[in-house]
Amino acid sequence: MTLLGDMEPAEAESVYFNEYPPPKSLPKHEALARAFIDLHVEDKRRVVLVTSGGTTVPLEAQTVRFIDNFSAGTRGATSAEYFLQQGYAVIFLHRQYSLLPYSRHYSHSTNCFLDFMDEASPSADSPNQNHGPIQVRSEYQDEMRDVLRKYRYAKQNNRLLLLPFTTVAEYMFELRAMAKLMRPLGPNALFYLAAAVSDFFIPRSRMAEHKIQSSELPANLDNSSAIGSQEIYTGENEVQPPKSQKKLVVNLDPVPKFLHRLVDGWAPDGSMVVSFKLETDPSLLVYKARTALQRYSHHLVIGNLLSTRKWEVVFITPDPPHERWIRVPKARRSKSISGVEDQVGLAEIQKGGQQQPQPQE
Ligand code: PMT
Repeated sequence: MTLLGDMEPAEAESVYFNEYPPPKSLPKHEALARAFIDLHVEDKRRVVLVTSGGTTVPLEAQTVRFIDNFSAGTRGATSAEYFLQQGYAVIFLHRQYSLLPYSRHYSHSTNCFLDFMDEASPSADSPNQNHGPIQVRSEYQDEMRDVLRKYRYAKQNNRLLLLPFTTVAEYMFELRAMAKLMRPLGPNALFYLAAAVSDFFIPRSRMAEHKIQSSELPANLDNSSAIGSQEIYTGENEVQPPKSQKKLVVNLDPVPKFLHRLVDGWAPDGSMVVSFKLETDPSLLVYKARTALQRYSHHLVIGNLLSTRKWEVVFITPDPPHERWIRVPKARRSKSISGVEDQVGLAEIQKGGQQQPQPQE
């Protein structure tokens, strides 16, 4: 049997997308994105698709357990704010409940959002003299006003569209649909792929329908579907029908690298594609990022290591200087919530890629 990873990209696309029904929310997301894109095409505004957060790989169709990819969404949410500041409209395709632009300053942080609030003293003319109004603590006022104004501006001017995904299959369906919808934007489209995308998955045809059982079930129980799924999980060539599944062996297939299809097929002509490369072994990072750039022929790979991703990234480009490191000096690290983006901003990303269109506004 040919694995998806060994097929030609177009064939792998058709096989992979035939494995799954499209996500239920896709038609609604497409309608929202179409209206959003039409608006910005008319205004000749640049639109960036930012992908953010990790994708899951469910182990069961009625999912109780899943494998996850590391990502809090900091990179994507922070970068989206910088794109908005530069006049882009942003389609933010993100893992549900991961960090979002603007609200990221007050969620998932070391402080609970309630730590930013206080109850003011009741005033003499308060209707209820026991309750003062809730307000933002004085030390956070300036920063929060600034964030609030930017957030309101983005919302009121239709600059930010939030679209959630959870599984790797949902992510792929959404990515393909958004890229195709962005075609009318031509060179005003930018793809900024910061999501942590799973490289492995369980094809729908081999997936257990129900929760995989770990303890023995009574022999008289009709649980044929659960037992069947356990046989599959023991490995393709060793069919042992265990009644008790103490050891779970998960057999994953490679997810095709859809960057190929994005660059060669889905994305509009003249658009710019920026991908990220995450590694943990420093000796592999530049090699893997270069290989990705050569393989997919896009514009920029931003490499980062898990342990230092907030303080240093490397830009790998087809043109000189080919490799450029951006580092946040040690003294400035503690002041920044999100690291590199807060320190160097979008200008560096724009300099990194060669084909960035000029602002239209
Ligand atoms: O969110 P944070 O906590 O701030 O973390 C940010 C980050 C570390 C997740 C981010 O900076 C990052 O590196 N994201 C990319 C992680 C990743 O998926 O790396 P990869 O080496 O598996 O994939 C490289 C590229 O191939 C990605 O751009 C991805 O879109 C693409 N890919 C990956 C898998 C796959 N099956 N198909 C793909 O097209």
